[in-house]
Amino acid sequence: MNTHALESTAQKMVADGKGLIAIDESIGTCNKRFAKWDIPQTEETRRQYRELLVATPGLGESISGAILFDETIRQRTSNGTPFAEALVDEGIIPGIKVDIGAKPLAACPGEKVTEGLDGLRARLGDYIQMGARFAKWRAVFSIGDGTPSYACIEANAHALARYAALCQEAGLVPVVEPEVLMEGAHTLETCREVTEHVLRTVFRKLCDQRVRLEGLIVKPNMVLPGLTCPTQETVDKVADATVRCLLHVVPAAVPGVTFLSGGQSGELASARLNAMNVRFKSQLPWELAFSFGRAIQQPALEIWHGEQANTKAAQQAIYHRAACNKAARRGEYDAVIDHDETALFRAASDVYAGSFR
Ligand code: 13P
Repeated sequence: MNTHALESTAQKMVADGKGLIAIDESIGTCNKRFAKWDIPQTEETRRQYRELLVATPGLGESISGAILFDETIRQRTSNGTPFAEALVDEGIIPGIKVDIGAKPLAACPGEKVTEGLDGLRARLGDYIQMGARFAKWRAVFSIGDGTPSYACIEANAHALARYAALCQEAGLVPVVEPEVLMEGAHTLETCREVTEHVLRTVFRKLCDQRVRLEGLIVKPNMVLPGLTCPTQETVDKVADATVRCLLHVVPAAVPGVTFLSGGQSGELASARLNAMNVRFKSQLPWELAFSFGRAIQQPALEIWHGEQANTKAAQQAIYHRAACNKAARRGEYDAVIDHDETALFRAASDVYAGSFR
């Protein structure tokens, strides 16, 4: 294992106030999101959409790395450049999702375990050849009556650690994603307890499997009340609970924490990340960054609508959301400006003619 190269890649992924963009939706998830906007669900439209994202002018100003899906890393832009190469040309590190999805966990009704360890060593070798330098694996945990169970936490944490060790052996930085889902009526405090327990177990298993903490990125959920919880806490309370939880369980050797957005709106995800950096940046041992999917892509997908004519406006929305999150990392995000500009881009999708900044 070239530990120097691993650590250097991990540090670059969270350097300069930048973060990751997740564009690794599986074919099924991508199609589901397209269906909502009546966008044809074909390999070619998925390619066009991913090209729109990757080719956003100036994306590398705020984005350090992009997580691709297996289909995308094998595709090319319309001028014939492989996606991974197009990213490198923009100064963005290519990454790849390597799990094959969360499947029902035997004996644990309603719970899931993420699969994909079989044959993973060979697949990682292929992805390195295709240009990937980091790899993501997502495990999911739902809060409910008696869940997440001990069995679910142990099984997923073990799989995360096995995948992370294989990644480091291959020279890929693992992006370890244990996601406590937002669905449910649980309180902020319950989410904090569960998230802390899950992360503590994950780090224990990572150490058991001899994963080098300096050469990985952790991608957790923010600590949030459930979507149907009657008490929806303020941005500052969410920031406090999230950072307090992470400080308890994420070792200082880890270079960066990159949050998933999990279905939060882009504006709220930026505001919460901003509050964490405003209140705690100087006290943190790791970088506090982002690895958002929906919270960066959502407005752009809506604007694009599958129409080539809307590409520029959609790219402007992507650029804007990425820049907002870079500002949030510095604690300089302005929610009022964001709100006005986001509304402007949506309106512009009908009559877009402006120049690209
Ligand atoms: P969201 O930000 O939409 O949750 O996506 C992040 C991700 O990579 C999910 O695996």
